[in-house]
Amino acid sequence: MTTPRVLVFDSGVGGLSIAACIHQQLPAVKLVYLADNAAFPYGNKAESVVVERSQALIAAALGEFPCDVIVVACNTASTVVLPYLRAMTSIPVIGVVPAVKPAVVLSVNRRIGVLATPATVRRPYLVDLISEFADGCKVERLGHPDLVYWIERLVTGIPIPGESLSGALQPFRDAGVDTVVLGCTHYPLITELLRAQLPGVKYWVDSGDAIARRTAWLLEQQGSPADSLKRPIDHRPVEVALFTGAAPRGLGAFLSRLGLGDAKIRGG
Ligand code: SIN
Repeated sequence: MTTPRVLVFDSGVGGLSIAACIHQQLPAVKLVYLADNAAFPYGNKAESVVVERSQALIAAALGEFPCDVIVVACNTASTVVLPYLRAMTSIPVIGVVPAVKPAVVLSVNRRIGVLATPATVRRPYLVDLISEFADGCKVERLGHPDLVYWIERLVTGIPIPGESLSGALQPFRDAGVDTVVLGCTHYPLITELLRAQLPGVKYWVDSGDAIARRTAWLLEQQGSPADSLKRPIDHRPVEVALFTGAAPRGLGAFLSRLGLGDAKIRGG
């Protein structure tokens, strides 16, 4: 049986949080990471642009690296491209959704924060998720305009300004939330920094583990036995990291810190 390969797609480095979860749960899987950082961020692009770029880039990456599952590890792209990708290919496609439902189960005081990008906060699907699953909870939605840029720069070694981060999170302190949904795949990359800013928050919820479980299920359906997916094997976790713009300086060290080891990195 050939080694299963999974394509993880994002507009930048955020999808690496998902790649790290997949690698932790399924070390046997080879990962191909694809980032459209030449067009980052997708949140300020027209939907048609996000659809066209995602389709073209994913098709080209699959031509070079045939994969068994595609993970769209970008909240913005996930809200628009999934039906187009499913029409384009028979390879199963998974998207990310803010983990509102698990947060409702965890929250004790029923005050929940959703930290996302301004684009995600504005999209009706988040409002629908909240009204479907968080009835009776007070949900504070916070769409921060700069956080994803700060995290992209963090990879290159530029620290996130602590005071700005603290100020940005004030609405969650004011609302007394005990649970925060990380509604953008970039944010789990800085959970420790967020935790330090909001010590009163008990639960930080993201979609990484759920996506990794779904990936495992899809690979099992395609014939990979569950225990074989968990077996560490001798290959780079990230076979290749493809960037449409220049690959971020310091990416190699960042991948190592995420437990993703040494990867072949290719910039556009
Ligand atoms: C973006 O590309 O706008 C940020 C990433 C995301 O939406 O998850």
